[in-house]
Amino acid sequence: MNTAVLTRFIDTRDWTRTDRRLIGSATIAQPAAARERQALLSIRDLHVSFDTGSHLVPVLHGVDLEIRRGETLGVVGESGCGKSVTWMAVMRLLGERARIRGRIQLGADDIATFSERQMTQVRGKRIAMIFQDPSSSLNPVHTVGRQLMEAVRLHRGLRGEAARVEALRLLDRVQLPSAAQRMRAWPHELSGGMNQRVMIAMALAGEPDLLVADEPTTALDVTIQAQILDLLRELQRDTGMGLALISHDLGVIAQVCDRVMVMYAGRVVETATADALFAHPLHPYTRGLLAALPELDGPVRRLQAIPGTVPSPMAMPAGCAFAPRCGQRENDCEVRRPGLRVNALDHSVACWRLTK
Ligand SMILES: Nc1ncnc2c1ncn2[C@@H]1O[C@H](COP(=O)(O)OP(=O)(O)OP(=O)(O)O)[C@@H](O)[C@H]1O
Ligand code: SF4
Ligand SMILES: [Mg+2]
Repeated sequence: MNTAVLTRFIDTRDWTRTDRRLIGSATIAQPAAARERQALLSIRDLHVSFDTGSHLVPVLHGVDLEIRRGETLGVVGESGCGKSVTWMAVMRLLGERARIRGRIQLGADDIATFSERQMTQVRGKRIAMIFQDPSSSLNPVHTVGRQLMEAVRLHRGLRGEAARVEALRLLDRVQLPSAAQRMRAWPHELSGGMNQRVMIAMALAGEPDLLVADEPTTALDVTIQAQILDLLRELQRDTGMGLALISHDLGVIAQVCDRVMVMYAGRVVETATADALFAHPLHPYTRGLLAALPELDGPVRRLQAIPGTVPSPMAMPAGCAFAPRCGQRENDCEVRRPGLRVNALDHSVACWRLTK
């Protein structure tokens, strides 16, 4: 995806006839069903609530998604929209207070039904996850080499010299400069970008089918960010694994992803191929995110930040959750909650005004 497409002015006031035709009356579910059949991971109707002791706070309200082998899915939305909770629920890392409901199909298995013991065979081996801040994930009191050899032992059963050789191969694979020397380094001796490469190497140790990268470049400067994104893309192409890339930055998503899913207030509000989403964003929220994106090579213009904030899970509006911030809302919007509808081009959107 060329970021030049992002320089197009996004009209946040109303939809064109083409936009309306994209959804139109041809609302069908087949494309999603076809994708589900080929999916590496398919999530249906995922709900997550947190138990406060006195009541349940719902934060995910029926998330659906699929990701195929070799596909990069971008997950985007403002802070608090449920991006991390979705993937932490898949990995079962949300802790005891989380209540998770829904189907999480990984290959032939519904892992939502797995015991904690079965999940230890999923985490790291079938799905691996990397996070924004590698220094908090790496152990400061062990060398990089020791941590990597431990990951290789845990996921692949290699020990001694075989583990050392594999750890070194992984550091080479993530293009860490002077890999042999870095095996003896402590995390604090490496830069943020180098530590992120080590984290990626650890994630690759189990040869996962799916890598989930939660804001992997947010803490890095722009040049290093581009290098890490290139690396992830290259690894994903070489290994054929699926890649879920979580980011609040549509610019990052545009550089790397095949498909994009936009989340708002614990729901998916739009999903499409990256080309379709950037050429014809349909949901007012997606349009707002794009309008707030600085242009790299376009004319300087005033950025249009979306007014207001994401509603708290404790004060969710009754109808469309985006209604309080939406310039296109009608009376209906505040009382009826729109569901996600799919069109013939496999571009889904949850907005009454486009689907009624
Ligand atoms: N352990 C928890 N207990 C209670 N609420 C939680 C917990 N973890 C997340 N939440 C709530 O769930 C909602 C979604 O959070 P999530 O971390 O998924 O957001 P996000 O989209 O990843 O945001 P960010 O871009 O800031 O990382 C938020 O309202 C958050 O406060
Ligand atoms: S349903 Fe209404 S409030 Fe919600 S995004 Fe569409 S126009 Fe806006
Ligand atoms: Mg997050």
